Amino acid sequence: QELRNPSDPGEYKQDKMPKGASQNQIRNRLKQNANADGPRPPPQRFRRGGGGSGNRWWNAYHLADRLTPSSATLTKLFAGLFAVIALIFLVRFVTLKARTARLWTPVPLPTLVPQNGTSAELSPDLFWGTYRPQLYFGLKHRSPHSLLAGLMWFRQDGLEPQIRHWCEQSDRLRYSWDAHDGRNFGSQSIRDEEFAITTEFVKRPKMGGKGGDWTARISTKLVGVNASDAKQRQRSPILSVMFYFLLPDSTLGHLRGQTVDEQFRLERIQGHTKELGEFQVNFRPRTSGPVRYTHLSTYAPREDLIKETVMHRMTGSPDGTIGLTGRSNMKIENLFVFQMTSMPEFQLEVSFESVSGLSDRQAAGGSLQGETFSREFSRHEAAFNRSLAQKFGATVANEKSSGFVRSALSNMLGGIGYFYGSSIVNSPETETTAAYWPAALFSATPSRSFFPRGFLWDEGFHNLLIGQFDPEISRDILAHWLDLMNVNGWIPREQILGFEAKAKVPDEFVVQPDTNANPPTLFLAVEQLLPYLTRDGAGKADKEFLRRLYPRLATWYAFFNTTQAGLLPGTYRWRGRDSNKVHQLNPLTLSSGLDDYPRASHPTDEERHLDLLCWMAMASRVMAQIGFAVDAPDWRKFSATWESLRAESHLDKYHWSEQLASYYDYGLHSERVRLERPQPPKLKPGQPPPQTPPKKIRRVDVEPRLGHVPGFGYVSLFPMLMRLLQPGSPRLGKILTDLADPKLLWTAYGLRSLSPQSSMYNRHNTEDDPPYWRGAIWINANYLAVTALRHYASQPGPHRETAAQLAERLRTAVFNNVMKEWDSTGFLWEQYEDRTGRGQRTHPFCGWTALAALLAAA
Ligand SMILES: *[C@@H]1O[C@H](CO)[C@@H](O)[C@H](O)[C@H]1NC(C)=O
Ligand SMILES: *[C@@H]1O[C@H](CO)[C@@H](O)[C@H](O)[C@H]1NC(C)=O
Repeated sequence: QELRNPSDPGEYKQDKMPKGASQNQIRNRLKQNANADGPRPPPQRFRRGGGGSGNRWWNAYHLADRLTPSSATLTKLFAGLFAVIALIFLVRFVTLKARTARLWTPVPLPTLVPQNGTSAELSPDLFWGTYRPQLYFGLKHRSPHSLLAGLMWFRQDGLEPQIRHWCEQSDRLRYSWDAHDGRNFGSQSIRDEEFAITTEFVKRPKMGGKGGDWTARISTKLVGVNASDAKQRQRSPILSVMFYFLLPDSTLGHLRGQTVDEQFRLERIQGHTKELGEFQVNFRPRTSGPVRYTHLSTYAPREDLIKETVMHRMTGSPDGTIGLTGRSNMKIENLFVFQMTSMPEFQLEVSFESVSGLSDRQAAGGSLQGETFSREFSRHEAAFNRSLAQKFGATVANEKSSGFVRSALSNMLGGIGYFYGSSIVNSPETETTAAYWPAALFSATPSRSFFPRGFLWDEGFHNLLIGQFDPEISRDILAHWLDLMNVNGWIPREQILGFEAKAKVPDEFVVQPDTNANPPTLFLAVEQLLPYLTRDGAGKADKEFLRRLYPRLATWYAFFNTTQAGLLPGTYRWRGRDSNKVHQLNPLTLSSGLDDYPRASHPTDEERHLDLLCWMAMASRVMAQIGFAVDAPDWRKFSATWESLRAESHLDKYHWSEQLASYYDYGLHSERVRLERPQPPKLKPGQPPPQTPPKKIRRVDVEPRLGHVPGFGYVSLFPMLMRLLQPGSPRLGKILTDLADPKLLWTAYGLRSLSPQSSMYNRHNTEDDPPYWRGAIWINANYLAVTALRHYASQPGPHRETAAQLAERLRTAVFNNVMKEWDSTGFLWEQYEDRTGRGQRTHPFCGWTALAALLAAA
């Protein structure tokens, strides 16, 4: 294979930034552009502080020879002493090095993703997919280095083209998967002003042995414009649709295009990679109106620069439309773009065919296009409908709620991505920042526009839904996540793998410190999956997974049980709180997942966090179950920890406040803390006053005291949410009473995160950070509440009736509100406002909010 020549970096100009891009994105992009002309740098490992100093001792020794004989003896003596000290340093350096290297060393256990487990040969069904959830529509295959396909479009209105490509909230589009089974097919509706665009795809993985075929069909329509009205027609909007293929350098393959119509219309792409073998792509446009075709073949240095590359190669034409400039005549071309410009309605079919599937395709009646495509699509849709009805249907009350369930599930599955790259990780202990080993992640994502990457604690919740629809996909996702564990048992919290993922993350959130944990929700997903994995007739893959799962989870568990332990036995403390962040009213606890949920105002080692204790109890319970299932000798150890952590005497001793009659965190706390703007510094004569006033900082009006941290909210519910409390417990009765109290957490839309009686309710944490977990309704916590209430409703005891009633009331409240907001806005939202129920912040948020689908039925 010839080596690729990086393209001319001059192509990427600052003024080519997309209009809607945020400052951060622009900064990130510019930084990356600056690096764009070189090959990918090798993973860097750099230590802050320290540095080699051995040479200096050596020089000192030789220096002695050049001195006078009398002083030479003395100097040699000193030099000898230095040598000993140097040796001590060396030993320390080596041990530190060894400790440092643990940061990026995988745990030495068999991996859960089998060797080549995602290859076309071993896993053809999941090989190709819409695994670029960050795009409105894009496909890739599950390989570290994949051929990439994607859609772009823009309105031809004589202005600078506003190209749609990555999902951006600022585009203000509606887009949603109407159907997606995570494997075979999908159909998405996009609404961009008067354009209605449908993106459909169908796969045929068994055509040949290289991952098979797929076809994408893009259909466009006008809505709200009367196309038969001649006058209207004149002004009718014109749409350009572009579909591209990019072969990143790392694939070491090649692409070539074939055009017709005086070289303007791209008809076919042919190519080859080691993994895909020979393949070809056919473009089949269909339109009855006037149409203009253009294309582009050029070189794009990286996958996060596709749009910039395309924008740089556009030009106006005499008919007033903007189109691509054709062949760029670069020595190496790895990006091919098809463009058609017309007035909707029109259609484009893009078919990817593996040459290895020639005979299979003939036997199957030819290419996946036209009628064949429609037939295959309907076949998969019918199966999907049946599966939905079977798995969720019994339960769903009416057509509208079944539409909701279908949409929530489809968008969860359509949000699954495949990522590859290295996290940037940091060890505060050894002061090391380094690249993690390059790794793959198959994972759902919280939000296609805002968080299109893997988040550790979100993923446990995602898989509560995915696991009920397709346990095999869920198993595969869990396997990928747990394989990211290092030798210390740590898994980085936020996974920013690859250029596309990185481009969406502000710099300050990129580095992942290895001291920080995140709620171990994967245990919840495993607990739910366990009956499937241990069923009669479970396959070899399931058995092997289960066998390898236990030691891995035990390592993960041990990481939590040691590094997140509190000062006293059986207590726990989230790490990563920083009291030096003086602009924060309450130092954040990002690792808990509940970011700004109020904790002790003064972080100390004495602090103990109730939610973490309960997560650990749950993890112990699940470990005991798996250990028992696989006949592990030490499962009783976990069972003992579960019993000791859940014991009411234990919970009461460390977390129950008699005075407030609730469970709380414990720590050094003052209720009288506020943000205040400091006096501006005294100016020297002639010195101009500062442009902006100094930022507000934290002031403590009453000195903190050790004690329970008041403020009733989600954390206080955890002994119930994680089912620690015995069904007969009076504490459970008290929690149920408080939970149902509208003055505390109960609202008509679900449980709010913090009681209005808390001093922190709906308070900003800094001047610029609005409240996050300080009142708003979150669906993951509400889902846990409903299922915990159902659990207590199933246990004999004095609270059985109350739990049953509350479970049903809460289920209805949450489900109805999430569905109502979905109905009126077209989206699931990150959170819901507690006074109005309105969806707010990030959207679409088809991560854990989609758990509402599991609340459709009583
Ligand atoms: C599947 O269900 C959807 C929604 O109810 C319906 O519109 C569609 O026609 C069904 N498709 C098939 C093939 O049954
Ligand atoms: C967890 O840590 C505690 C010490 O805080 C220990 O007593 C317990 O045995 C540990 N549990 C397991 C299962 O390792």
